[in-house]
Amino acid sequence: MNRDDALRQIAADGKLDAAALIAYANENHVGGRDTGAWPGMSVFAAEGEMIYALVRALKPRQVVEIGVASGGTTTHILTALEANGSGTLYSVDLDPQAGVSVPAALRQRWTFVTGDALAAPLPEWADFVFEDGEHGFDFTKRMLLRLKTLNPQVILSHDALTHLTYGEAFQVLPAFKEALGTDRTVLTDGSIAGLAYWFNADYQREPVVPVASPARAPRKAGKRG
Ligand SMILES: C[S@@+](CC[C@H](N)C(=O)[O-])C[C@H]1O[C@@H](n2cnc3c(N)ncnc32)[C@H](O)[C@@H]1O
Repeated sequence: MNRDDALRQIAADGKLDAAALIAYANENHVGGRDTGAWPGMSVFAAEGEMIYALVRALKPRQVVEIGVASGGTTTHILTALEANGSGTLYSVDLDPQAGVSVPAALRQRWTFVTGDALAAPLPEWADFVFEDGEHGFDFTKRMLLRLKTLNPQVILSHDALTHLTYGEAFQVLPAFKEALGTDRTVLTDGSIAGLAYWFNADYQREPVVPVASPARAPRKAGKRG
């Protein structure tokens, strides 16, 4: 499906304004693995544009991201938060070098934590979650169940349909379905990965509360070495 039809589907499911989502997506020029802007582990450009559009539309105060790699989706999300003029991103990756390509100008809103995301400290709540870590069944299911406790408005998982091309090592969709009870996906033209998404019927936007301090202090993005 083309990107705009994918956004129309997401808008219908999330009771969002499709025209506004499409207009937001058109602002985005961060690119993806297919445009050569980001390496092979990253999202396709249209997927990044959809994540960006949702962050623009939902105006999350706090986003949690699992799986950074060189920083493609991190950059899509931070660019959207910057355009919103509000919100922070908290990302977790096993690799201390992850996020190496996130532009310095965007790092003010970013906290990066190194560790296994199943055990790493997370904020107590989030408005928006993007999950793109390890893609086996057990990790994805346990991760999504943990992320659900943050009570976000939406959870997105990447590589929902990668198993159709690369086989059963990719178990994102079965795990997503088991953890969140839905198998809603979009697969945009040219992508072999796809996004699964879940809108939380119990989400309530509470007044802003202080972000909980993690047990171990995370390294502040941009202050490496
Ligand atoms: C597909 S890449 C992320 C790509 C990135 N979201 C993008 O689109 O630009 C997956 C990342 O998950 C990280 N990862 C794998 N297992 C993990 C775990 N248990 N905890 C935290 N990060 C993990 C890997 O180090 C890798 O950087």
